[in-house]
Amino acid sequence: MDVQAQPHLHPLLSGRFSPSSFDATHVLDDPALTALLDAARWAPSAGNSQPWGFLPARRGDDDHRRVVPHLAPSSAAWALDASALVVTAARLWVDDDIAYSEFADYDLGQAVAHLTIQAQAMGLACHQFRAFDLDGLTACLAPDYGWTIRSIIAVGKGVGSRADRRRRSVADVTGDPWLTRAP
Ligand SMILES: Cc1cc2nc3c(=O)[nH]c(=O)nc-3n(C[C@H](O)[C@H](O)[C@H](O)COP(=O)(O)O)c2cc1C
Repeated sequence: MDVQAQPHLHPLLSGRFSPSSFDATHVLDDPALTALLDAARWAPSAGNSQPWGFLPARRGDDDHRRVVPHLAPSSAAWALDASALVVTAARLWVDDDIAYSEFADYDLGQAVAHLTIQAQAMGLACHQFRAFDLDGLTACLAPDYGWTIRSIIAVGKGVGSRADRRRRSVADVTGDPWLTRAP
């Protein structure tokens, strides 16, 4: 298991981590928020299907007040100080029988990765999380048919220590356990 990010990587990658706390005084202004969402929407996607949706809720605005009650206590402990909470959603279905894209989750994840690195380039940090009441948030936001809320991204000035940063090795991710090669 690697623990530290690798120095041969680009600094935007090796310097990225999910902060465990944020600067509660930092404000995410309109140009910064637009840049983050632009980074996400310019990600590649299968057939250019762009199966992603985002609800950016900045600390103190009405959408933030809608999202916050649904955070799990474990998330609320640090995410409330983030400058914004961005709810992410994937478009999975066109109707009961027709999937919108078999790559919807893959593409959403890639868009979020782009947003995350854009944030890093802007001196900001992201901490994605699932620890919220999915059913409660879904009932509250009432996404359109076929859309599923997947995660929340806390964005802001990271000031806290790093989370679990252990990584599987290159040998591990390129072979066993997912691909057992014949001797
Ligand atoms: C889809 C997803 C869900 C996550 N859910 C949580 C969560 O509920 N709570 C949390 O503290 N971190 C959560 N994380 C953050 C991971 O724990 C973190 O990315 C991982 O430990 C690696 O650390 P790093 O991002 O600093 O490299 C989540 C990350 C992803 C991508």
